[in-house]
Amino acid sequence: MLKRKVLAPYRDEGKPKYWTAEEDGNYRLTYPSNIWTDITIPFWSMPENTPHPTQKPEKLLAKLILASSRKNDFVFDPFIGSGTTAVVAEKLGRQWSGIDINMEYLCWARKRIGSAQNDPAIQGYSGGVFWERNSLPRQRKPSFVGRQSQTGQESLLE
Ligand SMILES: C[S@@+](CC[C@H](N)C(=O)[O-])C[C@H]1O[C@@H](n2cnc3c(N)ncnc32)[C@H](O)[C@@H]1O
Repeated sequence: MLKRKVLAPYRDEGKPKYWTAEEDGNYRLTYPSNIWTDITIPFWSMPENTPHPTQKPEKLLAKLILASSRKNDFVFDPFIGSGTTAVVAEKLGRQWSGIDINMEYLCWARKRIGSAQNDPAIQGYSGGVFWERNSLPRQRKPSFVGRQSQTGQESLLE
């Protein structure tokens, strides 16, 4: 679901219609439309950013992986680049594998995967919903539960 700020809060018999009032504003949850307007490229200032020339945003991969797999499913990306698919799969509790022809890209991917095991946050996705762009200050911190991976290493999942 996508969490949107409500600009024109409509009421029906005095009660909010399809939105809820929260501390910092009014919000509604909507299903994704055909055009996804809440995605940005990974800007240099974002923690996920690497020098990869065509790196995809983690938020985009999160939408694709959540829509097409369940926890512990296997996700494979034969053109993994800077590792976005594996990073997001790890954060979302999927098994994963990836290939790339470029060793430098794989080094960046490995570094990101290591970080993902300590910090499962996905920018723009928290509390089980996707948030609009430029809403970082309004997003709550995700809640985590521990998962024991096959290697015995603890990773954190939303
Ligand atoms: C569009 S990029 C993938 C970007 C990736 N989704 C990310 O977020 O960083 C495609 C990748 O395919 C890799 N590639 C191209 N030809 C390949 C081949 N024959 N075998 C494996 N990888 C290849 C490139 O090195 C490049 O990193």
